[in-house]
Amino acid sequence: MSIRHDSRNERRDIRGEVQGLARPAFDTIAIHGGAFDDPLSGSVNVPVYQTVTYGQDEVGGTPAYCYSRTGNPTRTALERQLATLEGAEHGLAFASGMAAINNVLNVLKSGDHVVAGQDLYGGAYRIFTKLYAKFGVTFTFVDTTDPANVAGAITRRTRLLWLESPSNPLLRLTDIEACAGIARRAGVVSVVDNTFATPVLQRPLDLGADVVVHSTTKSLAGHSDVLGGAILTRDAELHEPFRFFQNAVGAVPGPQDCFLVLRGLRTVGLRVERHCLNARRVAEFLAEHPAVKRVYYPGLASHPQYALARRQQRDFGGVVSFELGDDVEAVKRFASGCRLWTLAESLGGVKSLWCHPPTMTHASVEPEVRRGNGIRDGLIRLSVGIEDAEDLIADLAAALECAASARGSRARKTPPEPPPRVCRDGARLEDACAARETAI
Ligand SMILES: Cc1ncc(COP(=O)(O)O)c(C=O)c1O
Repeated sequence: MSIRHDSRNERRDIRGEVQGLARPAFDTIAIHGGAFDDPLSGSVNVPVYQTVTYGQDEVGGTPAYCYSRTGNPTRTALERQLATLEGAEHGLAFASGMAAINNVLNVLKSGDHVVAGQDLYGGAYRIFTKLYAKFGVTFTFVDTTDPANVAGAITRRTRLLWLESPSNPLLRLTDIEACAGIARRAGVVSVVDNTFATPVLQRPLDLGADVVVHSTTKSLAGHSDVLGGAILTRDAELHEPFRFFQNAVGAVPGPQDCFLVLRGLRTVGLRVERHCLNARRVAEFLAEHPAVKRVYYPGLASHPQYALARRQQRDFGGVVSFELGDDVEAVKRFASGCRLWTLAESLGGVKSLWCHPPTMTHASVEPEVRRGNGIRDGLIRLSVGIEDAEDLIADLAAALECAASARGSRARKTPPEPPPRVCRDGARLEDACAARETAI
């Protein structure tokens, strides 16, 4: 039997107008929009359609689903829900944020030019300069905090304007409305990576951007347990090639991953609110601390774009960056004092993480380019979780004390010795692997 659309699902269209509520609020849409009830059982959660293929009624027909690279009902629910939350008409889900970014770039051809913000996620910079540059696409990186720089960099060959606001890792803001307007007048497609802000805080399509991309790995899924990405747009002509490449290239998420991201979306409003509350407390604490040289957080009145942040975003986000000194030594001492804060890549999860962008997220950016963009070796990026703010601040205070002391190191609890890993024949796994390596 083939599963067909159920009329009960018609009451929710892609714009999230839940029947009976003409203008539902974000948190209502996050629960009721996009997703559909299961037509077989009425399950209140979208089922995981763990299937690759679908029985078809006739030869040469056009079934709603034929093969899961092309489409899967769990993925459809996620794509609809993501589109709804961003105020888009069309949504596509991907296996990671980088897969989504790559899918947008697939529209480029040799000779095309892209204008991009200077302060970008290192992986975006890497795919631009190490992969697409190889195929004859050229890139100009500008400081997009001044829209005049964007206008000045656009040439006859420019196809895309690539923005991150707030940017990773320096939390610089771009006036999306101004820059999207400049791009539109020049016939250039504007793309905003909205991973940091999330649609809870900022909706770039409402500000005139053409395309939004996400790493749903971060706040949208929110629990550091699933990778994902998305492309959202209102423009059918832009959507069509994106959809074609999604199927042609095949970097799609599996249904279980779609389910996890969908589940995250239900609580994203609540979580982001708490991330913002905690991040503001943390930023204020850091700004007063004598061991901290500089704090980057758009919610501090000292941030150069505080006024823009207040105008463009509903709140200031859960990421705070700060500088300890000019080199990595103080950062190492800081690491020795962290307990609650985990040194790890990624951001936007419920658990607080910190990272050292020069050696982690931005290690693929050449040191001179990195430093030229203002990413100094003493920079730390915090992804502020939803734990108790007092506990987070107490742990930071202890870690900063270590950073400021000559030797660092808060007596670490020695982790328990892990049990020896053994093979089926009882030999220690490490010994067996060592023997195999010598054999190879
Ligand atoms: C702003 C931004 N965009 C895109 C990505 C890439 O996402 P993913 O790791 O899901 O591929 C990241 C990852 O950190 C990011 O911070």
